[in-house]
Amino acid sequence: MENNLLLCILLLIPTFASSDVLVTHIRNIKKRNVENDLVVNGIEIYSMKIDSKVTSRFAHNVITSRAVNRGNVSKEVFFDVELPKTAFITNFSMTIDGVTYPGTIKEKEAAKKQYEKAVSRGQTAGLVKASGRKTEKFTVSVNVKAASKVTFELTYEELLKRRFGKYEMFIKVKPKQLVKDFEIAVNIFEPQGITELEAEGTFITNELQNTIKKTFSEKKGHISFKPTLDQQRTCASCSESALDGDFTVRYDVKRTTPDNLQIVNGYFVHFFAPTNLPNLPKNIIFVMDTSGSMYGRPMEQTREALLKILDDIKEDDFFNFILFNSGVSTWKETLIKATPENLDEAREFVRNIDASGMTNLHGGLMRGIDILNAAHEGNLVPKRSASIIIMLTDGQPNEGVSDIHTIETDVKNAIKGRYPLYNLGFGSGVDYGFLERMALENKGLARRIYPDSDAALQLQGFYDEVSNPMLTDVELNYPENEIQDLTTNSFKHFYDGSEIVVAGRFVDSNQNQLTVDVRGEGAKDALSYTTQQDAEQTAQAFQEQEYIFGEYIERLWAYLTIEQLLERRIAATGEEKENLTAEALALSLKYKFVTPLTSMVVTKPEENDNEDVIADKPTEAEALSSVSSMLGSQIYRGSQPTWYTSVDGDPHFVIWVPQKRDAICFNINENPGTVLNLINDPVTGITVNGELIGDKRANSDAKIQNSYFGKLGIANKHLDLKLTVTPEKITVQNGNEKMGFTWLDSVTLQQAGLTLIINRKKNLVLSMGSGASFVVVLHQVWKKHPLHQDFLGLYTLEEDKLSEQTHGLLGQFFHPIDFTILEIHPGSDPKKPDATMVVKNNELIVTRGWQKDYRRDPSHGVDIPCWFVHDNGAGLIDGVHTDYIVSSLF
Ligand SMILES: *[C@@H]1O[C@H](CO)[C@@H](O)[C@H](O)[C@H]1NC(C)=O
Ligand SMILES: *[C@@H]1O[C@H](CO)[C@@H](O)[C@H](O)[C@H]1NC(C)=O
Ligand SMILES: *[C@@H]1O[C@H](CO)[C@@H](O)[C@H](O)[C@H]1NC(C)=O
Repeated sequence: MENNLLLCILLLIPTFASSDVLVTHIRNIKKRNVENDLVVNGIEIYSMKIDSKVTSRFAHNVITSRAVNRGNVSKEVFFDVELPKTAFITNFSMTIDGVTYPGTIKEKEAAKKQYEKAVSRGQTAGLVKASGRKTEKFTVSVNVKAASKVTFELTYEELLKRRFGKYEMFIKVKPKQLVKDFEIAVNIFEPQGITELEAEGTFITNELQNTIKKTFSEKKGHISFKPTLDQQRTCASCSESALDGDFTVRYDVKRTTPDNLQIVNGYFVHFFAPTNLPNLPKNIIFVMDTSGSMYGRPMEQTREALLKILDDIKEDDFFNFILFNSGVSTWKETLIKATPENLDEAREFVRNIDASGMTNLHGGLMRGIDILNAAHEGNLVPKRSASIIIMLTDGQPNEGVSDIHTIETDVKNAIKGRYPLYNLGFGSGVDYGFLERMALENKGLARRIYPDSDAALQLQGFYDEVSNPMLTDVELNYPENEIQDLTTNSFKHFYDGSEIVVAGRFVDSNQNQLTVDVRGEGAKDALSYTTQQDAEQTAQAFQEQEYIFGEYIERLWAYLTIEQLLERRIAATGEEKENLTAEALALSLKYKFVTPLTSMVVTKPEENDNEDVIADKPTEAEALSSVSSMLGSQIYRGSQPTWYTSVDGDPHFVIWVPQKRDAICFNINENPGTVLNLINDPVTGITVNGELIGDKRANSDAKIQNSYFGKLGIANKHLDLKLTVTPEKITVQNGNEKMGFTWLDSVTLQQAGLTLIINRKKNLVLSMGSGASFVVVLHQVWKKHPLHQDFLGLYTLEEDKLSEQTHGLLGQFFHPIDFTILEIHPGSDPKKPDATMVVKNNELIVTRGWQKDYRRDPSHGVDIPCWFVHDNGAGLIDGVHTDYIVSSLF
């Protein structure tokens, strides 16, 4: 402690100009009132414990946080933690003044109703959101009376995966304030014996390193991290907590045989990880997206990663590069052996890869598969080898065959289960659901590559995981008549450093002996043997274990089964998908796992009313893409828009209100020819106006005629830029210079202050000056449609780049807006309830409805729910709608 204090003061000296300050500073430290440091905003968190028990790779973690309100008024106490994406929450409870409010698990639909009820009462409800690469955030708050205490307890479970020869568990640590009693305790029990155990924290300095206590012997490992208050401080005189980051535990187990079978209470688990087998040579096809959106940093990072990968390719391996943009090109016509000369040539090739044009993903992938198929058919590659396809894309197919269902079918028919397909989705512009489905349909997997400074490392890291295949066509067979509900037991490849886990249930729960037949194809010969285990051996291996948490093998089996059902569900359709959903749901409810199909609900006490808290789990495909799968365009990479505000269709204005996680919508009914001001920002000089068109002929039955935007004028006064968009053409006027394009063009135009990307026949993305961006979507209707004609939609991104003075029918909603929904009651349409909305001090009658979001699917759109404000947005928009009529587009 003395040392710490001294060191900190010494480090501070250079920042203080006079010694007076220094003296005062020291005095302050001496006088410090610890109590004051512990209470932040009236709340003291007096204890936070993270207790983790791992038994045979299955981790059971309990986070307990205890707080007291030291103030003399009621306070909102927050509990927010981050969990690994691979974990399922299994319990959550709050204890207030000795009374426990437990969580109950419900089907998501049922829970959602409760959630909507809570939201409509204007109450905050807890939610789990995807928040990072590896984590999901769980947030909840409760009102705590003066001098009262609250305890939050969250439990989650996960099966630790082995990668690069180690099991890894990370715990996110971020108490946000000093905590008197802080502790992380990890207890590991591995019946095979522990060979190594490491613990590290990204926030742990050299001085803190020795506060991590680590011991392991034979089957037990123990880690404890219990920093004192002073050790938690960012510096000796600071009251901020230095605990902020990942705490990671890594270990591996002893392996005398490749197999470890455990049998407990009618369930079994089989861990399979051979060591000491030679690696198989690989035949690897890299299918790389080099479309325009990869231009710049992403392309540089891809080149950097590929060059590193080339350094790691082994001489026995075969490889090739396929590049796709508007067209498809290949480095070589066939797979090429990785001789030093060929590698040199490949490096030269990689250094010269550049990006431009569209995204012909189908063409690229099919060419790659063809080359691999030809190599196998022509015996060009060794018979005992592992073939792998790695595809990288940052956009969505928009050239060649662009229908994703056709692409999926073609790829599946071409691969025929012979090679795993690994899809890497770079950035947020990808349709991750599509990439994931296609990979899973072809025995591979999908990964996100986050567009950060370490993107090259992420790519390389993925390659490293699949670069050492040891076996192909691995099958673990158990006597069929003895086992039911078996998890996946056949695997295309086994990679060195990983582990295969299979679990199942005995038909006869008293059975206590199991035989397994193991098969695989290795580098030299086939692997084939039989091994056996009985429950007594398992019991013996567990002898010294005092704390096997309840039925861990059964829970491990349930975890693995749910994980695999959810995965298969991604690629399934129709009745098969319904069946998989039903199965996964039933197991999630039975074992109380919060999965994408279930939620955990806690009814928390409030003075006037009950409030519901919900724990949810998003899927990986939902994690980023719902927000910003912007039409294959990637100029927003790195700064994702929070959401969007849009006008599309029969002018349907949709306003997303982030803090409510809900939307408001309204229509403007005006005659064709009317020009409306949509956005007007006097500071950046940006205006957007739109001209209405109607149907080809008026519908004599309807009181209100349909109308759409047929012409948009986007201008930046300061830059002397004008862009006119119609369903036929796009005109850019830059000062005196004029350029014209049609929707049949594919264009990436970059000039001072202007970026314009036209995605042929689909949409255009425009960003001007300050960086605010617009997407114009083209809606083409059937040419001979008796009524409708082509029209346009407008979506805005990065609205915060416009000034506070922005106004207009759409622009006024770029500023935070809040609303409250009261008294939901049946409306004239039984499917669409009415309610009272309080907004801008007005009480409006609104109707729950749906509006189309056309960003993903310009022809059909996707329904998104919203509160519809009647009568041309009266009461919601500033003034009346006719105030926004202007005389011309510019
Ligand atoms: C609560 O505490 C504040 C600050 O100590 C004090 O000013 C206030 O009078 C107290 N209120 C009551 C109701 O005791
Ligand atoms: C959930 O946690 C609460 C509080 O610790 C406990 O009483 C309850 O038994 C737990 N539920 C389950 C299913 O473990
Ligand atoms: C779905 O489940 C039902 C009832 O168990 C079964 O009859 C049907 O064959 C299943 N369908 C598919 C496609 O698996």
